[in-house]
Amino acid sequence: MLTVVDHPLLKRALTTLRDAATPYGEFRRTLSDVSSILAYEALRDLPVTTCPVQTPLEETEGYLLAREVVVVPVLRAGLGLVDGFVRYVPEARVGHLGMYRDEQSHEPVDYYSNVPPQVRDARVFVVDPMLATGGSAAGAINHLKRRGAKDLVFVCLVAAPEGVARLEDYHPDVPIVAAALDRQLDENAFIRPGLGDAGDRIFGTT
Ligand code: PRP
Repeated sequence: MLTVVDHPLLKRALTTLRDAATPYGEFRRTLSDVSSILAYEALRDLPVTTCPVQTPLEETEGYLLAREVVVVPVLRAGLGLVDGFVRYVPEARVGHLGMYRDEQSHEPVDYYSNVPPQVRDARVFVVDPMLATGGSAAGAINHLKRRGAKDLVFVCLVAAPEGVARLEDYHPDVPIVAAALDRQLDENAFIRPGLGDAGDRIFGTT
């Protein structure tokens, strides 16, 4: 199921990210802000347990997170969405999956994996700014399921309808949280209108 987060601050920030004139330093800072808004929404239904808490006046009921959180950025661009998750959940573990999209076939190529074993019992947030053909997201989720992950959420900035359809087809159990659902993929499998290559814009490699 796709959730497109609707918030005026997110809309304004996404406009900055789409703008070709935004320099990479500002792009990176704005993406960090956006990651907080997306994390806030994506973490909304995390289960909690109760615990006693002593206020200065009396004891009352407090809450603890009932599920461990693991964030898995798809390298490189996914690194830009980690900030918000670790800001709200400082104890979150962070796994890394390296994948790039082959320029000819547009299919993902794996080049790195370092995933904590806790993915088996945790809620796992796979983060990548772009959901284009969906190949990278589906591949990353396949990889994590093979490692025992059962409770996954995919979080992105901009999704193409083609990527959403592929991910929902391959992994109907994985909810998708996005800042925007864009119009389409073009003949080079770039998201339109999109925001260009998120990895290059985050790291200044254009
Ligand atoms: C981009 C993006 C996703 C992937 C999306 O990565 O960050 O990982 O492409 O495309 P898909 O849905 O068609 O698989 P890219 O290959 O540009 O690598 P980078 O993160 O290193 O820039």
